[in-house]
Amino acid sequence: MKVTVVGAGGNVGSTVSMAVAQRDFAEEVVMVDIVQEKDGDKIYPSKGRALDQWESSPIHKFDTKLNGTVDYEDTAGSDVCVITAGVPRKPGMSRDDLLEINANIVQDVTEKLVKHSPNTIIIVVSNPLDVMAQVALETSGLDSSRVMGMAGILDTARYRSFLAEEIGVSPKDIQALLLGGHGDTMVPLPRFTTVSGMPIKQFIDDDKLEEIVERTKGGGGELVNLMGTSAWYAPGAAAAQMVEAIMLDQDRVFPCAANLNGEYGQEDLFLGVPVKLGKGGIKEIIEVDLNDEEQELLDESADHVHSVLKEFRQLMDK
Ligand code: APR
Repeated sequence: MKVTVVGAGGNVGSTVSMAVAQRDFAEEVVMVDIVQEKDGDKIYPSKGRALDQWESSPIHKFDTKLNGTVDYEDTAGSDVCVITAGVPRKPGMSRDDLLEINANIVQDVTEKLVKHSPNTIIIVVSNPLDVMAQVALETSGLDSSRVMGMAGILDTARYRSFLAEEIGVSPKDIQALLLGGHGDTMVPLPRFTTVSGMPIKQFIDDDKLEEIVERTKGGGGELVNLMGTSAWYAPGAAAAQMVEAIMLDQDRVFPCAANLNGEYGQEDLFLGVPVKLGKGGIKEIIEVDLNDEEQELLDESADHVHSVLKEFRQLMDK
């Protein structure tokens, strides 16, 4: 049970590593990053963060080994690889503004990962998420069941936490579904949102619900404005939940970015949809019956992802 996290000297990657280690099911988490320079000196952020986290093992009570490295040979034989390498957003930026720089990084990292773990499963976290997942799929040559993006668990967690606070119930008791791209066009679905199985509309009026849907869509940007960089606690926890579901073959049902081949009327495009996650990655893409309004919103979201993908292909042609 070996997990690799690339970009683990950064905020999201180190949070994924820590969350996986604390869950204590893996033998080893390999934390990869590059050698950075600070004030003229070389620094090794993934080695530093790995050591710091390992020093917390007696307190958190885990024995998962944390191996900070800059050498991909250490990643050999990884069951699951999480890619968080890349640059985060700054205030005023959209996720799509990261396209060119992160596409090059994700391509490079994916090549190195599959060289050493040719049958791995890849979870992409770098943004713009849906297109970066496509880059990882095409670069790796892996089956589409083995490449996915982390977005839906995070976006629904934001939606659920906002609803819980508004209604005054535990976030554990809010269930929700959200589809579409990881951006402002994402599609939270109130019709599939419940409080312990009871329709959400029984607990909240339409205007407030709409306000929360809109806040969810801009949830990442809200944090970028507060912190000057993008979020890591909830994204890291969400990616760790996907790693656990796959490695423990849990058959969990989550919204994840999956490569669609006809499902939801989309072809060869990553989009957030409910999937069953377990051994081997995506075991099933689940199709729900959408009404016309929901399908229209999903199509709009897909159009947006298509436009960013087109921009990526044009960049590659150059
Ligand atoms: N190989 C390995 N690591 C790399 C590479 C590379 N080619 N290029 C950059 N990195 C590392 C950086 O050195 C840094 O440690 O990726 C890490 C990114 O960490 P942060 O700058 O803290 O960014 P973070 O907030 O973690 O976001 C990373 O996740 O949620 C997304 O939009 C976010 O795309 C961004 C990514």
